[in-house]
Amino acid sequence: MISFLRKYRRKLKHALKGYPIYAVSDWLVKNNYIQNKTFLEAFANTGEHQAPAYYKYASYFEAWEITPELAAQIKENLPNAVVKVTNSIEEITKTTRKFDVIILDAHMGVFGGIYCEHFDILPNCFRIANDEVVIVMNVMPYAEDKWKERYPTVFDEKHLERRKQFYGNALNVVTCTYDEMIAFYKDYFRKNGYEITDYFFHQRHLLHYLAVKATKIKSNTA
Ligand SMILES: C[S@@+](CC[C@H](N)C(=O)[O-])C[C@H]1O[C@@H](n2cnc3c(N)ncnc32)[C@H](O)[C@@H]1O
Repeated sequence: MISFLRKYRRKLKHALKGYPIYAVSDWLVKNNYIQNKTFLEAFANTGEHQAPAYYKYASYFEAWEITPELAAQIKENLPNAVVKVTNSIEEITKTTRKFDVIILDAHMGVFGGIYCEHFDILPNCFRIANDEVVIVMNVMPYAEDKWKERYPTVFDEKHLERRKQFYGNALNVVTCTYDEMIAFYKDYFRKNGYEITDYFFHQRHLLHYLAVKATKIKSNTA
């Protein structure tokens, strides 16, 4: 009964666009960035929390999730999705398909013992990105005390160490502005052969969404 009510509440909330992801999907749709595109949802969970905001725009939708028990629920929530039970951070080094839209809804700190935020998967997104790509990821420009109290591993020593490894000296890893953060990602994408041509930030809670539209940089050598 409780799970039925939860499911109904979630569906109602989606119908009312009551989740922060809708600010992102509205921006993507308004700019015509995701209609009829191929999608990769790299950390799918059950597929019921945020994918409903953009799933309907996909011409092809692939969902990766490490937990085998969730595969059936993904299929139920996203019936046309191609579901792979896999470690996304390894899968992304092997898959041969390329995508127009890549969604990285990774955990908020260190996870799986060795991974952290989108830091281990983003470097390999460029090998599976089409020339025009949208990447949606979670970022943490800062963490208010209330969130650190609620999630004690957020911004703990291990997490901050990984943040320093990824952002280097380019960012203050404890607190920075959206402008400073996008400057980092513009540089990062450029070093990986892509120019960010548009972007959108939106706070969801402790995490903030960063959606970027990027274009492959054409080499000048004819
Ligand atoms: C933050 S949740 C994703 C939520 C999902 N996007 C949604 O809206 O419902 C992260 C998910 O990633 C999965 N996960 C964790 N490590 C993974 C890995 N290495 N490869 C694939 N999935 C992983 C977890 O099991 C969890 O379901």
